[in-house]
Amino acid sequence: MADMLVPLLSLPSSAPVLDELKQQGVIVRRANPFEWTALRAFCEKNFAVTWADEACSGLSNKPVTTYIAIENGQIIGFGSYECTRRDFFGPTGVAPEHRGRNIGKALLLVCLEGLRDMGYAYAIIGGAGPKEFYAKHVGATEIPDSTPGVYHDLLAK
Ligand SMILES: CC(C)(COP(=O)(O)OP(=O)(O)OC[C@H]1O[C@@H](n2cnc3c(N)ncnc32)[C@H](O)[C@@H]1OP(=O)(O)O)[C@@H](O)C(=O)NCCC(=O)NCCS
Repeated sequence: MADMLVPLLSLPSSAPVLDELKQQGVIVRRANPFEWTALRAFCEKNFAVTWADEACSGLSNKPVTTYIAIENGQIIGFGSYECTRRDFFGPTGVAPEHRGRNIGKALLLVCLEGLRDMGYAYAIIGGAGPKEFYAKHVGATEIPDSTPGVYHDLLAK
């Protein structure tokens, strides 16, 4: 899968989406290192062990570079940046039963704001899956000749 480039100088604000989610009882915030086990369990259950590894590495950054979406005290989505490589967004995921509620969009925007606040003018989405999602919400474009990117020579499952 190809990488995508996101212009951060024209990033839309996360505030309206976060406010709307808050009214529905969904909180989007940085994860805490003491939530490591819960984050790992969520990623492994819904996605992959490798995604759990990447997302949990963000818990060691200061500030933490993994965000979570919470409803009724449970993690229902996560988004990470500055994990596998500098200036990279990902992985991210929303539990299947909570998709379509703008949670993925909120996580994408807060993570990219985090990268912008670090001083980056552009961000890279590593091995982008839903390209239309990224193009639509943050103007991401595919980086030519970016396959396989950093996800190569992978361990066998
Ligand atoms: C991609 C993902 C994070 C999106 O999360 P989500 O909470 O369902 O998305 P949202 O509700 O925020 O979507 C908002 C908008 O994006 C669109 N959208 C969502 N997923 C999309 C996709 N895969 N492709 C194209 N558009 C998509 C929605 O239709 C919606 O459009 P609208 O604003 O016109 O109504 C989620 O589908 C997911 O977890 N997928 C599996 C993991 C994955 O692929 N992660 C990315 C790895 S690079």
